[in-house]
Amino acid sequence: MSKTFAAITGVHGYVPDYVLTNEELEKMVDTSDEWITSRTGIKERRILKGVEKGTSVLGIEAVKGLLEKTGTNPEDIELLICATVTADMHFPDTANLIAAATGLTKAYTFDLSAACSGFLFALTTASQFIAAGTHKKVIVVGADKMSAIVDYTDRSTCILFGDGAGAVLLEPSGEYGVMDQQLHSDGQGQHYLYMKGGGSFHPPSAETIANKEHFIVQDGKPVFKAAVSGMSDVVSKVMARNGLTNDSVAWLVPHQANKRIIQTVASMADFPIEKVMVNIQKYGNTTAATLPLCLFDWEKRLHKGDNLILTAFGGGFTWGALYLKWAYDTPS
Ligand code: ACO
Repeated sequence: MSKTFAAITGVHGYVPDYVLTNEELEKMVDTSDEWITSRTGIKERRILKGVEKGTSVLGIEAVKGLLEKTGTNPEDIELLICATVTADMHFPDTANLIAAATGLTKAYTFDLSAACSGFLFALTTASQFIAAGTHKKVIVVGADKMSAIVDYTDRSTCILFGDGAGAVLLEPSGEYGVMDQQLHSDGQGQHYLYMKGGGSFHPPSAETIANKEHFIVQDGKPVFKAAVSGMSDVVSKVMARNGLTNDSVAWLVPHQANKRIIQTVASMADFPIEKVMVNIQKYGNTTAATLPLCLFDWEKRLHKGDNLILTAFGGGFTWGALYLKWAYDTPS
C-alpha cells in the first residue's frame, strides 16, 4: 500500500507593527547594539502593543491569511494545533480562541507546549493524523507573545525575544510532505531555562510577583551548548538515515535563537550559510513562531520537491529535526 505524507500546502506569517530596536533597548538596560549584534545577530524584534491583546491576536492574523491565500473554506479544517508557551489564558486553549475567530466551526483544537521546539512537535503530531488517513485538512500554528513574559530590566534575556506567529496548512500527498523526524526531551533542562511562577507549582501571589517569577529565566551558556550539540546530533541522524547530503538538501531551517548557534550547527553539518534560513535579525527569538516565519519569508524561493531539514531547540529541554519535502511552487 502506498504511503500518505502530510504536505504543507500553504504558509502564512504575521508579526505586529511595533519595532523594538537595539537602540531603544540601549535606553532601557545597560547594553549596546554592538554587544547584541555580535553575540546574537539580532537587530530588532516586533512587539504586540495594546491592552487585552494576547497570543491569539497573532495566531488569528496568521490563520486568516493562510485560509485566504490557500482559498480554504474554514469549515473544511478538521483540526488546529497551536504551539505556544504564552497562551492567552491557562484555559481555554489559545487554539480554541483562534478557531472561533477564524470560523473553524468543524475543527477540534488544542495547544501544545514545547517552548522553542513547539512548532516542530506540533507539526510532527499533526502529520500523524494526516498520515493515518483520518484527517484531510489540518492547521498548525506557532505563535508566541514573548513580550508578555520578558523582564525588560534583565539585559540577558530582554534583548533576545520578540512576538510573532506563523501557520501552515497540511494536506495528504503521496509524494511530498513530512518524510521523517526525530524528537527529544530532557527534563534536566528545567534548571537552565524556565518561568517559575503562575502554574500550580507557584500559583500567582504578591510574593511571586515581587520575586519576578512570571518572567523567563535563562542561564545562557549551558543552553547555548545544549542547543548546538542537540541540534547538530539530530540533524546528522535524520539526514544520514534518509540518505541526504548537504548537496541534496536545499535549505536548513533552524530555530532562530542566536545567530552563533545557527552558524555553528550549520558548519557542523557542513552546510554553506547561503543554504540556511536566517531572519533572526528582523524578529529575534519568537519561540514557536520562528520556523513557520522562516518558511513564510522564504516561500517564494522554495520549489516543489525541495528537501528541507527543520531543526529546533528549546526550554524543557526539547529538541528535534524534521525532514520535509516541499510540495509546491509559488507563482511569482
Ligand atoms: N548587553 C551587554 N552585556 C551583557 C548582556 C547584554 N544584553 N547580556 C549579558 N551581558 C554580559 C553578562 O553580564 C556577562 O558579563 P560578565 O562577564 O561581566 O559577567 C557577559 O555579557 C557574558 O555573558 P554571557 O551570558 O556569558 O554571554 P553569552 O556569550 O553566553 O551570550 C546569550 C548570552 C546570547 C543569552 C547566549 O548564551 C545564548 O544565546 N544562549 C542560548 C539561547 C537559546 O538558545 N535559548 C533557547 C531557546 S529559548 C526558549 O526555549 C524559550
